[in-house]
This record gives sequence, C-alpha cells and structure tokens, in this order.
Amino acid sequence: MKHPVVVGLQFGDEGKGKLTDFLARDAAWVIRFNGGSNAGHTLHVGGKKVVTHSVPSGVLYPKCRNFIGSGCVLEPLAFRKELQELSAAGISVHGRLWIDYRVHLTAPLHRAIEAIREAGSKKVGTTRKGIGPTYATKAFRTGIRMGDFVGSSWEEKLRDLFESFGALVQGLEMDEAQYDFNFDVLSKARSELSPFVSRDPAPFASVSENQKCVLEGAQAVMLDIDHGTYPFVTSSHTVGAYAPVGVPFPYRRVGASVGVAKAYLTRVGEGPFPSELPEDQADRIRMKGGEFGATTGRPRRVGWLNLDELRTAMLLGDCEHIFLTKSDILSGEKEVKVMWQGKLHVFPGWESVLRADGKLDSALESYLQFIEQKTNGTVIGLGTGPERESMFWRRPFSFWEN
Ligand code: IMP
Repeated sequence: MKHPVVVGLQFGDEGKGKLTDFLARDAAWVIRFNGGSNAGHTLHVGGKKVVTHSVPSGVLYPKCRNFIGSGCVLEPLAFRKELQELSAAGISVHGRLWIDYRVHLTAPLHRAIEAIREAGSKKVGTTRKGIGPTYATKAFRTGIRMGDFVGSSWEEKLRDLFESFGALVQGLEMDEAQYDFNFDVLSKARSELSPFVSRDPAPFASVSENQKCVLEGAQAVMLDIDHGTYPFVTSSHTVGAYAPVGVPFPYRRVGASVGVAKAYLTRVGEGPFPSELPEDQADRIRMKGGEFGATTGRPRRVGWLNLDELRTAMLLGDCEHIFLTKSDILSGEKEVKVMWQGKLHVFPGWESVLRADGKLDSALESYLQFIEQKTNGTVIGLGTGPERESMFWRRPFSFWEN
C-alpha cells in the first residue's frame, strides 16, 4: 500500500489540517515528519476550535494513532500545555500518541538564542519557538534527543549543549544560573513525557504494508530550508520527499504528495511577497479570513494567489494535485486577481462558492481552470468553510493506492 503526504504549497497556513483531518477519519496513523511547535493547525469540529502545534492532526479521531517523527523537534513544556488543552477539550491522547526517540528537544536556551538573533537587523520574523537553534544543535551534534531526555544521562547532555553554545554565542549569559534555569524548566516535563517516547528504530516498516497512514507536513514548500525563499524560511525540510526521512517511513510506500493551497496568499514573517495587497485591502481579507498566526497571533500579510510560485512549489514538491482552501473568503469580491508571469490577471468574482444546484459557481470554475492550466495541476477539491464537513470534491482521487 502507498500512503499520501499532505504538504503546504505556499508559506504555511493553507489549511492543511482540514485535509489531514478528512483523511484521518479513515486512517490508522497520522504521522508528522518535520517542524515543531512553530506549526499551528486550527481544526473546527462541532462548533469547537482546536489548535494543535506539535501533536498530529489525527488526534480528533479516537481510533487514529499519531506519531511525531524523528525529523520533528519538540519543546517539552509547550507539548505538555498542548496535551492539557486537548484534555480540556475532551480529547485523550494516551495510548495513541508516540514521539520518536530521535526527536530533538527545544530547551529555553534555544529560544533565548533565537530572541537575540531576532532582535537584530537581520531578523527572519520567526515564530520565536527556538526551532532554528534546535535544528542547529542537531546538526552541531550537541542536541538532546527525546530518548536521552527521558533517560538517565540527560544532565550530561544538557551540560554538553550548554558548553557548545557558550563557545558560539556572544552576549548570552552561560553561567550556572542559566544552566539551573534550563534544568528546572525541563525537569518538570520529563516524567510526563516518558511514556510517549517510542524506541522502535523503524516503527512503520511493517505497519505501512496494510494500515492506512497519512504523512502530515508542517509549514510549506516555499519555507523549505533548501528550496524556499532562503533565508526567509524555516529550518526543516517541508517537501514530501522528506517524509520518509523525517519519520522514518519505507519510501517505496510513500504515495502522492497532495498540495494544499489557499485561494489567495498569506505570509507571516519577513521575505519577498510580490503579489502583496496594500494594507487597506489586505485588512478586509485578513479580518474575513481570520488571518492571524495560530501560533503567534501575528497578523498575516495578505496578497493575491501567485501562480509563478505555486507552479515552482508543485515542481519542487513533485505534486500534481491541489486541494484549494478558503475560496469562500473571496466570495463577494467584485474581482479576484492572480499573479502569473509577474503580472496580475483580473477575474470576475463569485457571490458564493456553490450555486443553488450544488455545483461550483461558474466564475470560480474559470478561476480554477486558469490555475490548472498554468500549474499543470488538478484541483481535486475545495474547502468551502471552516467546519469539518465544508468540503467540495471536484475530481475523483484515490489517496491510498494498492
Ligand atoms: P521558524 O519556523 O519559527 O524558524 O520561522 C521561520 C519562518 O517560517 C518565519 O517566516 C515564520 O513565520 C514561518 N513559519 C514557521 N512556521 C509556520 C507556520 O506554521 N505557518 C506559517 N508560517 C510559518
């Protein structure tokens, strides 16, 4: 059996959680392969809004098991808070959530380092969750992995992390008080995390033969550390090709990468945005679409869909199928614009996504056909509103292949 990968095709916040949630209904496993608490998946279920960060989007289905793969990073206290929030929403994850023992830990130190960097003139506009520094210490080979964190030698690892940074970062107080602070903060979460840690080196080797899995990407192709708009990118790989590395997952069982794109474009943080709207127009769509960071609350920059970038993202992500979200937010716009070859093309707007007969509005249909023509992709479905059921399937698509 081959399993789908869900990736974002823009700058994150495309609504990947909606598609993953739809697939999770039939899946045995939802597996995250990159990123950490910088991600924010907002899910609307039964009038309730649930925001997940590190926890995979399969948690809302009691039968679905969830796995945080080795390519992710995790901040223990933020994770604990997330579990508490899920529990308050009546969702229990015990016995169906695992963290790979190779996942790297974000310590307060990582956040402190990022805060110093982001206060300077060369800021990236990160989520300030310490994600970049955590991947940096992973590559520096002084990071702390979850297996070590819940093991007996974790103090030694924390010392090592401190020593390696002391030599690197000027202006950061690396004294005993800092060490003690990090030690105390992390100690609080250790025992609680322990039962979640999986020590299986290849957990999906046989599971992937016949149990339906969904590989859930965080962030998006244009934020990929290699392929995105460097340096205004995140610090992990966001393309579907990373899924079998960041889990690990047998790569011959990885199926299609399905890309999620928003009908317009948003971006948080710094970086180029050629189709960005002037603030007065941006604000209207921002308010209507609730375009504020799920993780940081920052107002998102808003602009028109950029097909030059979307086409590139689909090539980079080896992705032919698009699930388009939030075209309902553009309902009522007199005209809708799309960037193609550096120019804005104007389309008549639509009053509502669906006509009275249940078919797609014809102006929206023309808009979709233009997207397909220029990207060589197929828009298989659309999100038509925030609720779980608000979806429209335009083309048949088999997510799991035998
Ligand atoms: P970092 O991932 O916190 O290092 O942030 C790097 C860049 O990626 C910044 O522009 C962030 O705003 C952006 N970013 C990271 N995660 C997300 C996300 O889930 N949605 C949207 N942007 C994100």
